Amino acid sequence: MVANVDYNELIPNNVDLASDRRLQRALESWHPKFMQWWRARGPEYFQDNEIYLRTAISVDKKGWAHFGSLKMPDYRWGIFLAESADDKKITFGEHKGEAVWQDVPGEYRAPLRRLIVTQGDTEPASVEQQRLLAVTAPSLLDMRNLFQVNVEEGRHLWAMVYLLMAHFGRDGREEAEQLLIRQSGNEDKPRILGAFNEKTPDWLAFFMFTFFTDRDGKYQLASLAESAFDPLARSCQFMLTEEAHHMYVGETGVSRVVQRACEIMRDKKTDDVRHFGGVDLPTLQKYINFHFSVSEDLFGSGQSTNAANYFTSGLKGRYQESRLKDDHQLIDEPYSVIRIEDGKLAEIEVSALSVVNERLRDDYIADCQRGIDRWNKIIRDRGIDFSFRLPHRAFHRQIGEFAEIQATPEGQIIDQAEWDKRAVEWLPNDEDQEYVGSLMVQVTEPGEFAPWIAPPRIGINDQPVDFAYVSM
Ligand SMILES: [Fe+2]
Ligand SMILES: [Fe+2]
Repeated sequence: MVANVDYNELIPNNVDLASDRRLQRALESWHPKFMQWWRARGPEYFQDNEIYLRTAISVDKKGWAHFGSLKMPDYRWGIFLAESADDKKITFGEHKGEAVWQDVPGEYRAPLRRLIVTQGDTEPASVEQQRLLAVTAPSLLDMRNLFQVNVEEGRHLWAMVYLLMAHFGRDGREEAEQLLIRQSGNEDKPRILGAFNEKTPDWLAFFMFTFFTDRDGKYQLASLAESAFDPLARSCQFMLTEEAHHMYVGETGVSRVVQRACEIMRDKKTDDVRHFGGVDLPTLQKYINFHFSVSEDLFGSGQSTNAANYFTSGLKGRYQESRLKDDHQLIDEPYSVIRIEDGKLAEIEVSALSVVNERLRDDYIADCQRGIDRWNKIIRDRGIDFSFRLPHRAFHRQIGEFAEIQATPEGQIIDQAEWDKRAVEWLPNDEDQEYVGSLMVQVTEPGEFAPWIAPPRIGINDQPVDFAYVSM
């Protein structure tokens, strides 16, 4: 028999879970399955160690999180919706100006469910991808950051499961089960999106993933945060506050690898960074090429009728929709995109409505570029003549029209034979991966760091860098 569980205590929430018996029953039957999933496919090690973690406890901007040491299975995965404005109106699409929806309109049930399931599927997928990394963590602080990202992706799964269970009845409950059944990289029941079936084999891949792939998450969440379906909008808005830390982990992680490479180049007066146990800048460029291109694919086809329909129906807006200066309906609105024309890449003007995915990808690319600029500044400040570049959007794509061609990182179309010959120059090859893999050693002394990565400037939540973030 299930004891009388106090759900407000077990699951911090601001959705009045205590008074919703139907929802409680649905979550009661899902919760043990989630815990089973977490034990089996969450972090492979350290489940019984105390980790210094942040837990969301409210949506109050001044104090939404609590920090403390706990075992991951005791993490309180909560359900939070950002505060709602009174009188909130739909800001785009054909329902623009009408009141936002608190319930799912019958005609949008299927596409809304699909959007929520697709977002929800990415959350446990990344936990599965990262499950073996702790054993090679370059420091306790980094290990803690990995676990922080993992438990929060778990909470994001809860956020999407809440929406499915509260608003989609029996179908929603079935989808919630499926989210725990699909598995990253599994051939028979893979995760929905390609990048979430790739391996995250080493810490460099982890930092690149949290920089590039969690950033796709930011843009998806931000456009869902514009949704006319208010519970979805408010869930995603709150998830963005946690997402910011994931991208911080990625950006600072790569920064520290870059910094170490530059220190070696400067101190040893050599470009042979590998000889001194660092990751050389050209290898970092290859990792950028890979993670950026697979993350670009997550935005879907540039030209998309589905995306146009989501927009027109008010289900999914553009990035910072309300700040954009146009009619928010995209009637006769032009937008310029890059297309393949007569075997060449050319910029052409098309209907903005037909390319809302491409526009979101543009916003994403601009944001990635800002990170690249900051990494380049680290190199420049140390007087080294090298800079990273984002590859062209046509490079190494599996989705959309560029999937039909091969292109160099500079955006020059090449034939398959040349691609086959040169891909090893542009993407991490076996030797690169083996080398990076060989650097991965676990460091468990507080304040110590593996030699391939510089220590961070600051610790977590004002704790010192040498704090025991994981109790060993
Ligand atoms: Fe997430
Ligand atoms: Fe994330």
